[in-house]
Amino acid sequence: MTENIQITTADRVTTLTIARPEKRNAITQAMYGAMADALEHYANSDDARAFVITGADEYFTSGNDIRDFSMGHQGDETPAVLRFLTAISHCPKPVIAAVNGPAIGVGVTMLLHCDLVMAATTATFSTPFVQLGLVPEAGSSMLLPAAVGMAVANDMLLAGRVLDATEAQNFGLVSRVFPGTELLSEVNATAIKVAASAPNSMKQTKGLIRQGRDQMLEQMHKESVLFAAQLKSSEFAEVVQAKMLKRVPVFD
Ligand code: COA
Repeated sequence: MTENIQITTADRVTTLTIARPEKRNAITQAMYGAMADALEHYANSDDARAFVITGADEYFTSGNDIRDFSMGHQGDETPAVLRFLTAISHCPKPVIAAVNGPAIGVGVTMLLHCDLVMAATTATFSTPFVQLGLVPEAGSSMLLPAAVGMAVANDMLLAGRVLDATEAQNFGLVSRVFPGTELLSEVNATAIKVAASAPNSMKQTKGLIRQGRDQMLEQMHKESVLFAAQLKSSEFAEVVQAKMLKRVPVFD
């Protein structure tokens, strides 16, 4: 349990709100765990037939909590982040992301596992893994090129390009864009509509769309091993030190 993930259910829609605005909604292992628990619970409960994931206040999420993250990759236990990503990926019910503001790192990569992505005009999308001395996660090295095309995916994953909401929609990462004040009501209306649809038809259709994703799950695990190794690398240490000292990292 963590107060930083708010969970509400109404009209058969379960909404998970990432609520840690003082840290720009950075996600800790405890928060991933709480989201995974809710997804797993409501996936098997008829109380919910659709999910919404959104962020409190101005950010969607600034990504993995940088301080907390290395802890989650120690030991043999599956890190909570992987449990969360697997829970979205395997969820038999539609998952809708309401991207209310900047989405960084896992804020973008989790979208690749959602079924519908709607965004506010203020949303931005960035995947600065290489800039942090890390590697992509959540199967994004496979799913992002598939979603936006190789050229844009390379621009984002290698060169750190930040997309605005219109670009994200044009490149196919986002399906609909709304003014910030309208986003949640539009997303809720869509969620209630899909939650009222024939549940078995919805489940089968999701299954068909997602067929052939086994290779992606393999890729996700490969990424996770490389990510954990990079977290312990001198490259990541240099990035952290450079940030603390407010200088540019140097890789000789
Ligand atoms: N992990 C941990 N803490 C984070 C965080 C993250 N991903 N993102 C923001 N925070 C914390 C900051 O450390 C700061 O904490 P403090 O008030 O205790 O010092 C607080 O959130 C506010 O951040 P700040 O940088 O002052 O806000 P800002 O509005 O100027 O900038 C960001 C916001 C998100 C652009 C900036 O914080 C940032 O670049 N964060 C790192 C994002 C990132 O690299 N994520 C990928 C992780 S894989």
